[in-house]
Amino acid sequence: MDKTEQDRLKKAAGIEAAKLVENGMTAGLGTGSTVRFFVDELGRRVKEEGLEFTGVTTSRRTKEQAEGYGIRIVDIDQVDHIDVTIDGADEVDKNFNGIKGGGAALLWEKIVATNSRKIVWIVDESKVVDTIGRFPLPVEVIPFGERHVLDRFKERGYNPVLRMDGQGQPVLTDEHNHIIDLHLERIEHPQDLAQDLITTVGVVEHGLFLNMVDTVIVGDPNGPRVMT
Ligand code: 5RP
Repeated sequence: MDKTEQDRLKKAAGIEAAKLVENGMTAGLGTGSTVRFFVDELGRRVKEEGLEFTGVTTSRRTKEQAEGYGIRIVDIDQVDHIDVTIDGADEVDKNFNGIKGGGAALLWEKIVATNSRKIVWIVDESKVVDTIGRFPLPVEVIPFGERHVLDRFKERGYNPVLRMDGQGQPVLTDEHNHIIDLHLERIEHPQDLAQDLITTVGVVEHGLFLNMVDTVIVGDPNGPRVMT
């Protein structure tokens, strides 16, 4: 699929998802290029339809975009709960096991998701897979001692790569941590892997989101398709 077509499908999913945000709600706003389309549509609804809601964002990038549209954004600790969170994903299988963190926002994304009554993902059809793992699995680590975490991951055969930016520096997350991407190709036992990662000292969080999502809106060439 070329990028233009992929963007068309992402946008269609984003516009569809924006219908789920209603007046008075507290909505979690995810991160990524698909979410950008979703927030653009929310901005349009705020301007043209007078939609009023409160947003909790999963990254500084999304906060900036949403505030640019005049959307009220509050800190997650200022709300009791989040009604619905809409976020992107890098891969998702039919059991709703997914990988997130391609945009390095997985930690805040998981915290926002965990405190949401409903979680919706928006993806283009290329992200729906039989087995997750082809997309490198992001793991957020504390910079202190990360070389040793990389060594542990190498010993376990996880093919870890420290994510670098265009200037040859490690990518920094919103919490000033680093990202190690695990090149696994197939994740046959995601629960076991999740347990192994989260119990590795130095790991803050990983991008496995296992059976957390309620609904996936898939941008399909025939129109947005809903998986529940
Ligand atoms: C950011 C994420 C994104 O939601 C995920 O990478 C999907 O991004 P995109 O919509 O740009 O393909 O998890 O950390």
